[in-house]
Amino acid sequence: MNNKFYITTPIYYPSGRFHIGTAYTTVLADSMKRYHQLKGEESYLLTGTDEHGQKIEKKAEEVGKTPKEYVDEMAKMAKELWSKMEIEYDDYIQTTEERHEKTVQKIFDKFMEQGDIYKGEYEGWYCIPCETFFTQTQLNDGKCPDCGRKVDLMKEEAYFFNMKKYAEHLLKYYEENPDFIKPEYRKNEMINNFIKPGLEDLCVSRTSFDWGIKVLKDPKHVVYVWLDALTNYITALGYLSEDDTKFKKYWPADLQIVGKDIARFHLIYWPIFLMALDLPLPKTILVHNWIMMKDGKMSKSKGNVIYPETLMERYGLDSVRYFLLREMPVSQDGIFSPEAFVERYNFDLCNDLSNLLNRTVSMINKYFEGNVPAYQGTPNEVDQELEEYALSQIEKFEQKWNDYEIANSIQEIWNLVARTNKYIDETMPWALAKEEETLKLESCMYHLVENLRKIAILIKPFMKDTADNIFRQLGIEEIEQKNWKNLKVYDTIAHSKVIEKGEPIFMRLNAEEEIAFLKDMMKA
Ligand code: ME8
Ligand code: MG
Repeated sequence: MNNKFYITTPIYYPSGRFHIGTAYTTVLADSMKRYHQLKGEESYLLTGTDEHGQKIEKKAEEVGKTPKEYVDEMAKMAKELWSKMEIEYDDYIQTTEERHEKTVQKIFDKFMEQGDIYKGEYEGWYCIPCETFFTQTQLNDGKCPDCGRKVDLMKEEAYFFNMKKYAEHLLKYYEENPDFIKPEYRKNEMINNFIKPGLEDLCVSRTSFDWGIKVLKDPKHVVYVWLDALTNYITALGYLSEDDTKFKKYWPADLQIVGKDIARFHLIYWPIFLMALDLPLPKTILVHNWIMMKDGKMSKSKGNVIYPETLMERYGLDSVRYFLLREMPVSQDGIFSPEAFVERYNFDLCNDLSNLLNRTVSMINKYFEGNVPAYQGTPNEVDQELEEYALSQIEKFEQKWNDYEIANSIQEIWNLVARTNKYIDETMPWALAKEEETLKLESCMYHLVENLRKIAILIKPFMKDTADNIFRQLGIEEIEQKNWKNLKVYDTIAHSKVIEKGEPIFMRLNAEEEIAFLKDMMKA
């Protein structure tokens, strides 16, 4: 089946409240889902929580709960957040669910039977926050090379997965499938830093604690949390279960989105596990960078964490979704700053978009009693040029969005907003009215509405409520007029009537006050 689009987010550790970094990945995935859905594809979005392992076991103990009580509460919290952020996931997987655990046991068994897994002894270092093994030489000043925290010495009986056996195969796969890794430079990182120096076999079980999935044939071992976690993308679809219809329909994934912190697990171990299972690999794994704060990574001890609820409750959901996607370049780190947030709100959303809608609605009320004039072609060179410009912006948007240059693609929409605002200044509708140039005035109003309609369709994947609000104020009701299919078409609006009094969709913020507020919230 061609007409489907399966997207996944990482399954997050429920070890604390989710901050805007977690929200970023999820909003990106949700926007991708909605985009493909609007284009008529059967989109399916999976997210969830990664609930086993030492990190979670420790966390539950800290708060005096059993691990299962703790993870269930956290999963509930996560779902509440995603519902507030209007994340339309189709399934939410908790790795402590039976449907997942059973399949992981089957997978582990299969690997043992095939001889991909062998028994040995692990001796080395372990970073609990990252749930990752390191050799002495990989350490950075005796600390975890990934997160910089302290590591523990570990020596225990363990099973190992024979990664070496698949290294050549993986390199070949990278070469033959240029779309597999986005952005491309991540591929070279994997090759140069991990594969060329010699891929180590991976320790895939633990015996020193038991908050995990038991190995059926050797129950003093629990499955290493990363082998457990990575397989969620197929267990959630019913792989190796009685009902595998979803698996048959949706696998391989079309897009798996992860942050750069977990690129290695998804670009090396995950494809190798899939090869060992003889399954097709995902079409694309998109690795995005991090949202940073001015003084580095978000951390509570630095007092620089910002939570999505804080922003949403004060500024509305769409401004948060807009900001995250507009400010994060995907392939480079982006920075969250109160100044940038307030500026984007006041300039992009309020001055540019909200005002364009407001001016349009009030002029149509003033000149045509609210009735949007009919399309009559382009009686003006300016109108002609505006149409061409709009169509070329739509193309640029699609090109960049499809290439995961999300921030730049949104910039192209806002170029269209700016150009449309400028069009009002160029055509001077107030002068056209005075000179009784009715045809030109009608055409001008029509083109304003039409461009706003196009803009609303374009922002729908990531700002649904705002798009709906624009349609409503313009009196655009028919579903065809809101369709992606009719995005490039002119002459779609007939007999529409704008609302009597326009309502600003974004109101200007007092910059100084809001920046101070946000700075306080970051310290809280
Ligand atoms: O790694 N900027 O879970 P996790 C952007 N359970 N994205 C960020 C971010 C930031 N500052 N901070 C977090 C795990 N993220 C494993 C995953 S998957 C089989 C198992 C996002 O809770 C980003 O997507 O540490 C990153 O990869 C993910 O959260 C890590 O979430
Ligand atoms: Mg992490």
